[in-house]
Amino acid sequence: MPQADDPWHYSRESLAQRYFDQFDSGLSHANVIFGLRRTGKTEFLLKDLGPLAQANGWRVAYVSLWQSRLSPLAVLLHALSSASRRGSLVERAEALARATRPKLKLGAGAPGGDAKAEIEVDLSELRGPPTHDALLHLDDLIDRFARPNGRALLLIDEAQELAANEDNQPLVAALRTSLDQRKGRLAVLFTGSSQDGLRRMFSRRDAPFFHFGSPLDWPPLEDGFVDHMLATFAKIVRVKLNRRDCLKAHCALDRNPYFFRKMLELLAFDPHRDVAAALAMVRERAAEDLRYPDVWRSLSPLQRAVAQQLSQATEQPFGRETLASIGRSLGARTPTRAQTLAAIRHLTRAGIVSRTGERGGYVFNDPEFGRWITARAP
Ligand SMILES: Nc1ncnc2c1ncn2[C@@H]1O[C@H](COP(=O)(O)OP(=O)(O)OP(=O)(O)O)[C@@H](O)[C@H]1O
Ligand SMILES: [Mg+2]
Repeated sequence: MPQADDPWHYSRESLAQRYFDQFDSGLSHANVIFGLRRTGKTEFLLKDLGPLAQANGWRVAYVSLWQSRLSPLAVLLHALSSASRRGSLVERAEALARATRPKLKLGAGAPGGDAKAEIEVDLSELRGPPTHDALLHLDDLIDRFARPNGRALLLIDEAQELAANEDNQPLVAALRTSLDQRKGRLAVLFTGSSQDGLRRMFSRRDAPFFHFGSPLDWPPLEDGFVDHMLATFAKIVRVKLNRRDCLKAHCALDRNPYFFRKMLELLAFDPHRDVAAALAMVRERAAEDLRYPDVWRSLSPLQRAVAQQLSQATEQPFGRETLASIGRSLGARTPTRAQTLAAIRHLTRAGIVSRTGERGGYVFNDPEFGRWITARAP
């Protein structure tokens, strides 16, 4: 489904079709996508996969659990109740973001319910562990969303947030049961940029969604993305950029669409600047835009030294030689394994690195931040 109102959007039709077919065929009813920061997951859900499912007659609801002013339960209730309204997924998500005190009428038209049972809930007040009643409303809304003779797709973005807070446990348990009960008519796609967070939800034996969703690959943006961007640039800015230079820059930026578009913004401002210079400027500005120095300053000296070590060699962070080198870089005693582990835990909780699960390796959730750290003098 091309997103006609955004000429810059590069539509990933075949990827969307592939994921959709999995759900449509009934082969799977729950999947998980892990993708590094700013690699286009949200844009894909809102502008490719969601609209494709809608065009096939599915009902679609989108929720993002990242840094919402509202609790995950409130966001879910809102998305489910507005799923049958008009407007695109983007418009619905924007409407929720704009509302200062979003309210919701619950109970209206509930099976077996009467009009008097209807209550109005101020979503901004739904905090802390959810009440039994609120969870019943959630189940009721899921039931109405996933009609018996229709198909529905629930997109849960930044799903790892559900595992981030103990208060969410009853919600997670209720959600799992509600979803389980409607397998044939309701599909769910979870996405997230923290591998650890997702593992805590789906892979650990005691995880709430253990074996519930199977992982889907998340391929990087191909060269077609660059071609689309250059064609749009030529149409709008009326300048033809050098394709080879741009493809090189795209690779240098780990095929990250956010940084590539930042680079185009600079080139639109000064189209005669060369691509390599614009690329260098993007890197420099990314640090300020994404507040790398602030994050860096918030870390302790040991956490910084460990981050620096991980940015250079992501395996064996507890090896004897590694610990000694961390100690040397701090000009202090060699840290113990436990101290280093505590520092890594902090980096993980802060969403900076994730364990890959392979041979004790780690990745930076934002590789550009890892590169920025490498470039810093110890
Ligand atoms: N298909 C696309 N076409 C054009 N631009 C895109 C596309 N996908 C992503 N972008 C650009 O990259 C930016 C980041 O994308 P998006 O927010 O979807 O990434 P994300 O993986 O959800 O990131 P995060 O992990 O931070 O949530 C978008 O704001 C947009 O500018
Ligand atoms: Mg996102």
